[in-house]
Amino acid sequence: MLSKISKFAVLTSGGEAPGMNACIRAVVRSCVYHQLGVVGVHRGYDGLIDGDYEPMQASSVRNIIHRGGTVLRSARSQRFRTPEGMDTAYQAMRTADIDGLIVIGGDGTFRGALEFSQRHTIPVIGIPGTIDNDLHGSDFTIGYDTALNTVVEAVDKIRDTAASHDRLFFIEVMGRDAGLIALRAGIAVGAEDILVPEHPQSVERLLENLETAHRRKKLSSIVIVAEGEKEGNVFKLAERVRQQMPGKYDVRVAVLGHIQRGGSPTCADRVLASRLGIGAVEKIMAGETGKMVGIINNELALTPLSLAVKHINTIPSDWMRVVEILSI
Ligand code: F6P
Repeated sequence: MLSKISKFAVLTSGGEAPGMNACIRAVVRSCVYHQLGVVGVHRGYDGLIDGDYEPMQASSVRNIIHRGGTVLRSARSQRFRTPEGMDTAYQAMRTADIDGLIVIGGDGTFRGALEFSQRHTIPVIGIPGTIDNDLHGSDFTIGYDTALNTVVEAVDKIRDTAASHDRLFFIEVMGRDAGLIALRAGIAVGAEDILVPEHPQSVERLLENLETAHRRKKLSSIVIVAEGEKEGNVFKLAERVRQQMPGKYDVRVAVLGHIQRGGSPTCADRVLASRLGIGAVEKIMAGETGKMVGIINNELALTPLSLAVKHINTIPSDWMRVVEILSI
């Protein structure tokens, strides 16, 4: 395989996700395998601007495949959103003789990467690393599977207390613009209802469902709400039920929050991260740029970064039916 690139930089940016370390390991080790130089950039795009680079060898990434978070650390860089920030980053990369960039992150990371690759002639490839699974061009993103398992474990525990006290719980899960965590985890925990931004459901419809459940003498219920849900947050929903259905439900709220981003990655995330890390290095070596590597139908696939960030609705239409049928 011929490559004009001799030294890569790899960084993690945006909300960290379990499996990012496994991915860094794969990028570094495949660079070493192909006898290319590689530096790890600390603190995402902020570190890229500041020249905060760490030369890496195979041994730099030992014993990290199982660790959550990101050893390179992450940031949501404001400076990289400015032309000056991008130009300073480019100069810092040139000074360090870096001629290829691999970014691991979500849509904010990719928007930055896209603009950077258009402004400066440097090859850039993205690897999908976000618990939200909201990138077009990969069936799964790194961290999604681990986050789902964290949610399922937490909600199963909440189910125990809900059932013991005959309570209705509204549980908020992460997913700023996407309901994929809510939907998949909601099905897995047997939620009575799931509210996601992609399928706006009126609060009236939720109240109807709760009335029906009450008539059927369902004693406890779990409603999973994606944080990006347009109809209101969990606290407002709980208040609405208290006011409109007085005496019928003892309502509680739980916001799972950042525990969803932590923890040791699952087997699925480690394998996905390893495949994508190697894929990214080999694709950029082959001359690809401005694209995201993903896995579609178990095959490595490339998608332009401009398309990857488009938030194309990825909720299969039959999934909401599954929820409806199983929650009777
Ligand atoms: O993009 C990942 C994510 O965890 C979203 O689900 C969530 O809305 C956001 O990051 C939270 O970001 P922060 O940690 O910056 O508050």
